[in-house]
Amino acid sequence: MNVIRNLRLVVLISGRGSNLQAILDQAISGELPAAVVAVISNQPGVYGLERARQVGVPALELDHRHFADRPSFEVALMNLIDSYQSDLVILAGFMRILTPGFTDYYQGRLLNIHPSLLPKFRGLHTHERAIAAGETEHGATLHFVTAELDGGPLIVQARVPVWPDDDPGALAARVLAQEHRLYPQAIRWLAEGRLKLNGEQVWFNGELLREPLRLE
Ligand code: GAR
Repeated sequence: MNVIRNLRLVVLISGRGSNLQAILDQAISGELPAAVVAVISNQPGVYGLERARQVGVPALELDHRHFADRPSFEVALMNLIDSYQSDLVILAGFMRILTPGFTDYYQGRLLNIHPSLLPKFRGLHTHERAIAAGETEHGATLHFVTAELDGGPLIVQARVPVWPDDDPGALAARVLAQEHRLYPQAIRWLAEGRLKLNGEQVWFNGELLREPLRLE
């Protein structure tokens, strides 16, 4: 039997923090065996920080522009994260590229959500690009993070239809609603010991995952 752990989460954001909110809501209600112990934004003054403050979670700004280069920003970020003794580092709309110095250090306990069905549409403007490519299906992906941008072993995806004459805003909203289901689910699996990263391989319920899980 797996022992359920109450995980300490540090959430990194750069903006409005709706994925953060979805995690906070379930952590506070007790649905999720986890606590958000700090929220860190590389962008000062964003709304996600306010969401943390509203529920008494430390909301910290670490402006990358105050650092000479990417590695020195990341060293400061790692020190800050580690001062909260986190089990998991959650990238929730954190829009900075991370170097191997960071991603290797947190390997297996660093998660990201991306608004596309990876490996399709890495990078920005995924909804516009999915419509322009004539996709009939789009979605979001939760994955372990490696140094490869929007790469790393895939865990779980949620799919949505792309309608004829869809517009990027409507499609983004449809995908975002699914994102808000993906993060709490993956954190729960990790807390339950059902989900693990072993090297580059994802294991789920004691079996090697050959393709990402689907959240229906
Ligand atoms: C989300 O759609 C997330 O998937 C995306 O940023 C948005 C953040 O929204 N992340 C990326 O594009 C990472 N490559 P939120 O601040 O409301 O959670």
